[in-house]
Amino acid sequence: MDLHLQGRACVVTGASGGIGAATVAALQQEGARVLGVSRNPGPDGLALDLTDADAGDRLLAAARDRIGGLDVLVNNAGTTSFRSLEELDEDDWRGQWELHVMAPLRLMKAAAPGMAERGWGRIVNVSSSAGKRPSLTNAAYAVTKAALLSLSRVFADTYAEHGVLVNAVAPGPVASELWLGPGGLADQAAAARGQSRDEVLADQTAKVPLGRFAQPEEIAAVIVFLCSEAASTVAGAAWSVDGGTVPGII
Ligand SMILES: NC(=O)c1ccc[n+]([C@@H]2O[C@H](COP(=O)([O-])OP(=O)(O)OC[C@H]3O[C@@H](n4cnc5c(N)ncnc54)[C@H](OP(=O)(O)O)[C@@H]3O)[C@@H](O)[C@H]2O)c1
Repeated sequence: MDLHLQGRACVVTGASGGIGAATVAALQQEGARVLGVSRNPGPDGLALDLTDADAGDRLLAAARDRIGGLDVLVNNAGTTSFRSLEELDEDDWRGQWELHVMAPLRLMKAAAPGMAERGWGRIVNVSSSAGKRPSLTNAAYAVTKAALLSLSRVFADTYAEHGVLVNAVAPGPVASELWLGPGGLADQAAAARGQSRDEVLADQTAKVPLGRFAQPEEIAAVIVFLCSEAASTVAGAAWSVDGGTVPGII
């Protein structure tokens, strides 16, 4: 299937690892011009803390200079930690809100009007299964990822008639640094629960009907499809990419 992404100017946030890096690679394979963004990017990426108030304008300017515009935006940057409701303080809540809601909001506000003017655009927001069904691993993460689903829908409703299709994906557990890296969620949960890392991963895997973590490339494949011409009637969706984790039918 030709996804018609050849030559499209695409920005992917959180591109220095995991799902973001896999999305950059998959878009490049389709012949797109891609700018990856993170605080510590590789040589070709843009160094930007997306929680900075001027991140939207700076990103738009960099996209114009380096890839000739902005047709596709993937808001993927995000993080979490293993922390109980009692442990989460106001800074934790604000930090999660800034990264998962304000940062995508700023980028969409910067990007969507230009896409609408040109009559074509794609935006994909990377939420989480925790945004659909709250997880107690980190309530601030779950609540802000739910807010991102709502924000995504608001932009979808505003821009669909202008040819700008906005959608979200909601991955379940993914085999990236966030879960598996040193000091990542597996290690944090093991320390907090007094379990071994293997026990934590077995418990988490048991929650996934598919019976395993997803690979970043498997999430990227769905993101890239939603970025493509092939997804020409998909707007305002929140696609579960979770191996069946959230037991809903919508
Ligand atoms: N892994 C999972 O199980 C899972 C499940 C559901 C949803 N998700 C979501 O999927 C997305 C990607 O997760 P991942 O698993 O690929 O995580 P990851 O490997 O830890 O990558 C996270 C990316 O976000 C970037 N980032 C974090 N804070 C940033 C900031 N303030 N400004 C700019 N970039 C920032 C990081 O780069 P720098 O450190 O270089 O800034 C990194 O590139 C996240 O939104 C996450 O919530 C993940």
